[in-house]
Amino acid sequence: MNSSLKIVWLTLLINVVAIAQENPHGNLQLPCNTCHTTTGWDSVLFDHSQTRFELSGTHKYLECATCHVVENFSDIDGDCVSCHTDFHKGRLIPECKNCHTEQSWSIFNPVKAHRNTSFQLLGKHANLDCGSCHFSEIEGEFLRLDTDCFKCHLQNFQNTTSPVHTSLGFGLRCEDCHSFVSWRPALFNEHDSVFPIFSGEHRGTWDECSDCHLVPDSYSSFSCSPCHGKSNMDSEHDDIQGYVYESQACLSCHPNGGE
Ligand code: HEC
Ligand code: HEC
Ligand code: HEC
Ligand code: HEC
Ligand code: HEC
Ligand code: HEC
Ligand code: HEC
Ligand code: HEC
Ligand code: HEC
Ligand code: HEC
Repeated sequence: MNSSLKIVWLTLLINVVAIAQENPHGNLQLPCNTCHTTTGWDSVLFDHSQTRFELSGTHKYLECATCHVVENFSDIDGDCVSCHTDFHKGRLIPECKNCHTEQSWSIFNPVKAHRNTSFQLLGKHANLDCGSCHFSEIEGEFLRLDTDCFKCHLQNFQNTTSPVHTSLGFGLRCEDCHSFVSWRPALFNEHDSVFPIFSGEHRGTWDECSDCHLVPDSYSSFSCSPCHGKSNMDSEHDDIQGYVYESQACLSCHPNGGE
């Protein structure tokens, strides 16, 4: 027998057996051999991707009957919540797949869980425990938190020592001067218009604002001497008219900190 004849024969056989059998599937229109083989009624092979609901993750390994009542395959809804209880009690967006996969309910990608929010987990925030921000979390509800930096970082602001933010009148909009990555270095380019420290010769030469501003809280006073010692400077300037070893004088001859 050639193979196409064989298929016709098998098809006939199954359908004949089928007619002989009680059809348990109500008014299912598909031919019996779409799913059944000659090995027995309980071995079922069906390409589910023909339907509007693809079986992926854990779903692939389930018996048909865990989801279907075989009397009526159509009597089913593909919405996740028709089979799974909404752990979040309606608090989050209804599209479970925005955060979960069919593999497991664990979150593999924290960034994904935040994708619908205006607050992306970047820089230092990316590797924190969820609980360090959602510490009063009621299981599964994830109440939205305030996204203003100072709501979580007011303490950091008040405790700053170099520079003392409160005495400089720095505002609470941390994002004007800081990224998520670290507090230092800050983006404070305004300084460079009075005396370049983020560019020019002094870029990278200092660690703390207090390297020049020796008097805490008073940024109008500054000193050049911590790094440019007297004997060294005196010899550098031995032929310079009007030179004195005094910081205000240094600034007036070197307003940009360069030659
Ligand atoms: C879409 C796939 C599909 C099609 C098409 C299909 N079946 Fe089934 N059938 C199943 C599944 C699934 C079961 C349940 C298997 C199990 O419980 O292990 C089943 C079970 C059966 C059983 C066993 C019932 C029992 O109580 O154990 C019979 C008999 C049967 N089918 C007959 C038919 C006949 C006759 C046709 C064609 C008219 C048909 N099936 C078409 C999927 C299908
Ligand atoms: C995880 C649950 C799940 C499992 C397991 C599952 N199905 Fe489905 N199936 C569905 C859902 C949901 C739909 C409906 C898709 C839609 O139309 O929205 C569906 C649709 C179908 C349809 C189309 C019904 C129609 O009228 O369009 C058939 C036939 C079917 N499944 C057969 C099977 C068979 C046979 C198996 C086992 C091999 C199986 N399913 C396993 C969830 C499942
Ligand atoms: C037609 C019913 C049905 C639908 C619709 C359905 N599931 Fe399932 N799902 C099941 C069944 C049954 C299981 C296996 C039993 C269980 O773990 O709850 C399962 C298992 C799972 C698991 C594995 C759970 C674990 O702990 O291993 C995940 C994750 C999952 N489903 C996610 C989803 C998502 C996401 C959707 C929506 C896209 C969805 N399911 C839609 C029936 C369904
Ligand atoms: C905005 C993201 C988001 C959406 C949307 C979402 N979830 Fe979750 N879900 C989470 C997070 C975060 C967790 C906690 C995971 C963890 O602790 O690892 C979680 C946990 C779960 C758990 C596991 C609970 C346990 O036992 O630990 C289930 C079940 C669950 N979600 C179901 C759903 C269902 C069903 C939907 C759709 C109605 C849904 N989720 C939508 C973010 C989401
Ligand atoms: C650095 C602080 C921070 C960390 C760490 C953090 N979150 Fe959030 N999360 C927020 C803020 C702020 C919001 C509110 C964003 C908004 O309203 O746009 C939020 C909102 C959410 C929401 C609600 C989304 C919605 O659609 O309503 C979920 C779910 C969530 N976070 C899950 C997580 C998970 C899971 C983790 C750990 C992987 C995590 N978060 C870590 C600050 C954080
Ligand atoms: C919902 C609370 C929350 C919000 C809103 C938030 N953060 Fe954070 N942030 C944290 C937590 C918790 C940490 C880790 C603990 C710590 O270092 O204070 C952190 C850490 C940081 C760090 C790292 C600090 C270090 O020492 O390494 C920086 C920088 C930072 N945040 C900047 C910002 C900026 C800028 C904003 C506003 C755009 C912001 N954060 C908004 C909670 C928040
Ligand atoms: C006008 C700019 C500006 C604003 C606004 C600002 N900062 Fe800063 N911040 C700085 C500068 C400049 C530094 C010093 C950077 C360096 O040393 O590289 C700094 C350093 C810090 C440091 C480390 C220094 C220390 O003494 O601990 C922390 C913490 C800090 N800022 C927190 C905050 C927080 C929290 C906010 C918002 C509530 C904020 N800053 C707003 C400019 C600013
Ligand atoms: C390498 C030396 C140096 C470092 C480091 C430095 N400054 Fe300055 N800063 C100066 C000099 C010089 C002036 C004076 C410019 C003038 O008066 O024309 C000044 C002026 C200022 C002023 C203006 C004061 C006023 O009342 O006119 C502020 C505010 C200030 N600095 C803040 C900071 C902060 C914050 C840091 C740390 C991020 C810092 N400075 C680091 C040298 C420095
Ligand atoms: C935190 C240490 C530090 C402080 C404070 C400091 N400088 Fe410097 N300065 C350096 C370093 C490092 C260099 C580069 C190496 C060198 O030439 O000595 C430099 C270079 C210079 C140069 C030479 C630039 C060139 O072209 O070679 C001048 C001029 C100068 N500084 C002026 C000043 C003045 C004016 C002040 C005070 C307002 C000051 N510096 C405060 C560390 C400092
Ligand atoms: C009256 C103006 C004047 C004063 C005041 C002055 N300088 Fe200078 N400085 C100069 C001149 C001009 C040169 C260039 C000398 C040369 O290239 O031969 C110079 C050279 C330097 C250099 C060396 C640059 C090099 O090429 O290595 C440094 C560093 C420096 N000054 C720092 C300072 C500091 C710090 C002070 C305050 C203690 C100061 N200067 C005070 C005019 C002045």
